[in-house]
Amino acid sequence: MYAIRVENLTREFEGLVAVDHISFNVESGEIFGLLGPNGAGKTTTINILCTLLKPTSGYAEVAGFDVVEEKDRVRENIGVVFQELALDEKLTGRENLEFHAMMYGLRGEERRKKVEEVLGLVELYDKADMLVEKYSGGMKRRLEIARGFIHNPQVLFLDEPTLGLDAQTRRHIWDYIKELNRKYGMTIIITTHYMEEADYLCDRVAIIDNGKIIAMDTPQRLKDILGGDVITVEVEGDVERLLQCLKRQEWIKDTKRRDGFLDLTVEKGERRIPELINLSQKIGVNISYISLHKPSLEDVFIHFTGRSIREEEGEKNIRRGRKGFRR
Ligand SMILES: Nc1ncnc2c1ncn2[C@@H]1O[C@H](COP(=O)(O)OP(=O)(O)OP(=O)(O)O)[C@@H](O)[C@H]1O
Ligand SMILES: [Mg+2]
Repeated sequence: MYAIRVENLTREFEGLVAVDHISFNVESGEIFGLLGPNGAGKTTTINILCTLLKPTSGYAEVAGFDVVEEKDRVRENIGVVFQELALDEKLTGRENLEFHAMMYGLRGEERRKKVEEVLGLVELYDKADMLVEKYSGGMKRRLEIARGFIHNPQVLFLDEPTLGLDAQTRRHIWDYIKELNRKYGMTIIITTHYMEEADYLCDRVAIIDNGKIIAMDTPQRLKDILGGDVITVEVEGDVERLLQCLKRQEWIKDTKRRDGFLDLTVEKGERRIPELINLSQKIGVNISYISLHKPSLEDVFIHFTGRSIREEEGEKNIRRGRKGFRR
């Protein structure tokens, strides 16, 4: 059974098409990612699926219920962690959880047990009785996630669950999310603009841009679209001679020459570097620089859109500038 079904879903805001005829299904127990840049339409999609926003057209169903016609049934079966923090800062962590569990009808001993269990899972046990206003950003996120699943929803929506957190905290949160999925078989739909996050967590990813899904598959299959790893070499001497020699190697799937560099598309690049050096030495051409680039979902995004997912990300662009062949 599908946990989520989306058909031709569209949402306009005064002429702006924020979500543009998207269709996808999420299987029960899957971790499904919506990966895309700012303004792509991720939150709008989530808000429709959570029944907070009406679609302009199209159809969506969550846990078997229509998000427009059966709002209440949908709400009973989902948990949501919003992009913006939505905790009560004047309460303790435990009180936030208690309150939420109460709203969902958990009573007495059952509620107490559940609160303890989720506190343990996100490792906030020691901080449970501290006011949330004193929590760090990472602790608040963990508490939000705990709150999102305390009532055992069939489907959990996480809108940018690790936004703005440091790499270490982010990894931790990824582990909690995996654990939830594994332990409770919870279907999880997550939005992110961190490609590592989508890559690490998701069984399948839909890459979304300008309200449209431009590619959808497992992270590995998406990366496979690019055809392999890219080894870049710089040569002192006769580039053409090396190029001709490399073109005869069956393990090199593609070659590109640009400025003083050669880009070679290969599989298992790290295993091919020694072979490459041997070859060049044999024909007397000196390699002065060599680098290996393994494709990421970022490269997949660039492949489809011609843009980097986060243009403002300086470091990545410098790296990409050197490998300008990709665009
Ligand atoms: N209530 C609204 N009224 C008008 N326009 C809106 C509204 N909500 C969203 N939009 C527009 O719809 C588009 C998609 O926004 P959305 O919040 O879904 O993007 P997003 O992918 O979640 O982006 P981010 O990564 O920044 O969270 C944007 O152009 C946004 O300005
Ligand atoms: Mg958003």
